[in-house]
Amino acid sequence: MSNNAFPIFLSHPDQVGDQINQLIKKGALLLATNALNLDDTPCYLDYKMGALNLHLQTEAESFQLSLNFIEGKSQHRRLYGGGKGQPLAKACGLSKHPEWTVLDATAGLGKDAFVLASLGAEMMLCEQNPVLYALLSDALLRASANEETALIVKRMQTVHVNAIDYLKTLNDIPSARPDVIYLDPMYPARKKSAKIKKEMQILQYLVGHSDENVELLDMALQTAKHRVVVKRPKTAAMLNQTPPSFTVSSVNTRYDVYSL
Ligand SMILES: C[S@@+](CC[C@H](N)C(=O)[O-])C[C@H]1O[C@@H](n2cnc3c(N)ncnc32)[C@H](O)[C@@H]1O
Repeated sequence: MSNNAFPIFLSHPDQVGDQINQLIKKGALLLATNALNLDDTPCYLDYKMGALNLHLQTEAESFQLSLNFIEGKSQHRRLYGGGKGQPLAKACGLSKHPEWTVLDATAGLGKDAFVLASLGAEMMLCEQNPVLYALLSDALLRASANEETALIVKRMQTVHVNAIDYLKTLNDIPSARPDVIYLDPMYPARKKSAKIKKEMQILQYLVGHSDENVELLDMALQTAKHRVVVKRPKTAAMLNQTPPSFTVSSVNTRYDVYSL
């Protein structure tokens, strides 16, 4: 994706919440209130049927995405996902330490953070990409108006920032350091692109692959009070060649846990 501001088409700017309006003010999203020639725009955001939607047209396919913490997979995982016994929660130590705070430095679509918050964790979510941050903010706002999810998303604070910069600011305030820092950096692109899930294709288009992952892990290790947890594909190498204290595995995923 180019570095140009990403177009957002709103018939009424007050349709969206404060955080999205801040992105527009900062110039990270480009507001188009008049008719935009959408045919010539391979990707844009708009607000329809009460939700922010991403439209993306690649050479091969067209995608639409909006996030939803109230229904669908997030609801299913909240109700039947295995509670604090599921690998993600075990890796973050939630069953033994329910009071631990968790900073998700790579929030993305917010799915993992929502699971942890639904199990009671107080969360801070960092996301650097303005489009993903906008989709996330919109889904959280909708979830805050639903009686089943309102208390969960109240535990999810968000910040549009590069997490490396954010962690540097926390280092100066010891009382603000989180107990756990969770990292789910982008995986390297797989060759068989047709088999990559829709959401991963969108993430790869919007974010691509980062070369800052080792620096992010180093900064996390200096900042967390108790643990850093790194999500990896099951057979992938460790992020920084340093063996973790232990790992927790699920079917396709491995969580490398660094105890501090
Ligand atoms: C694989 S996705 C995370 C998916 C997420 N765990 C979920 O459950 O939806 C990785 C995300 O991390 C973000 N990211 C990567 N490096 C970052 C950094 N240094 N600061 C903030 N966000 C970062 C990317 O923009 C991307 O949205």
